[in-house]
Amino acid sequence: MKTFAIIGGTGKLGAALARRWAKAGLPIIIGSRDAAAARAAAAALGNRATGMANEEAAAHGEIIVLTVPFAAQVASLAAIAPYVRGKIVVDTTVPLMPPKVMVVQLPPEGSAALRAQSILGEGVTVVSAFHNVAAHRLATDDDIACDILVFGNDKAARAEIVALAAHAGLRGLHAGALANAAAAEALTSVLIFLNRAYHVDGAGIQITGALSQNGVL
Ligand SMILES: NC(=O)c1ccc[n+]([C@@H]2O[C@H](COP(=O)([O-])OP(=O)(O)OC[C@H]3O[C@@H](n4cnc5c(N)ncnc54)[C@H](OP(=O)(O)O)[C@@H]3O)[C@@H](O)[C@H]2O)c1
Repeated sequence: MKTFAIIGGTGKLGAALARRWAKAGLPIIIGSRDAAAARAAAAALGNRATGMANEEAAAHGEIIVLTVPFAAQVASLAAIAPYVRGKIVVDTTVPLMPPKVMVVQLPPEGSAALRAQSILGEGVTVVSAFHNVAAHRLATDDDIACDILVFGNDKAARAEIVALAAHAGLRGLHAGALANAAAAEALTSVLIFLNRAYHVDGAGIQITGALSQNGVL
């Protein structure tokens, strides 16, 4: 079984995913800028989880999941770049620019996902996912009515993350090339607007229609 390192795994999304994956029996490394904080967060997850500084976590993890705020994306990727060549890096970044988080504001690269790929270079397989699920809902054991759109140019890598979503109790769906991640990143601002406009406690998205089991493209 592969080891998953969560960069910024002390935060809202990272901790919630880590908890679900640890519960499913996956080996998890929590990464943080502060190794002691990472160890404390890992201790709460049980025996199979460990905590270490982000760079060390990236070096030890086989699949790396980045869960840091948009403002910290560039610095966090630059810090782990030397340790992730040849690996899958799952970018969850939504380009939210407070205070206008209900307005779509994609970066000049087109999306946070494409920005991640340009920082890490072609020797790293970037997959982008988990943009539309609310962390505070994930932090519970409840069933969550939200599909996980998974983007990436490498179908096999996408498939690994579709399976990873299932380990968190979520339906992951192949959603095409990395460039398509702009759609899900943008949708999060729409969901935040809907939360506020209709007093929803974490609106999500679900794709309708009878989807075949594994996706064909
Ligand atoms: N929250 C959600 O519901 C949700 C849902 C979908 C997608 N997302 C996306 O997931 C990512 C993480 O969101 P979040 O809500 O989990 O964020 P968060 O809790 O605010 O931060 C996550 C972690 O990032 C690290 N971090 C914070 N500021 C940093 C900085 N300036 N430089 C480097 N690292 C920093 C911190 O870890 P250390 O201090 O331990 O290093 C922190 O625990 C974001 O891009 C967000 O858009 C969030």
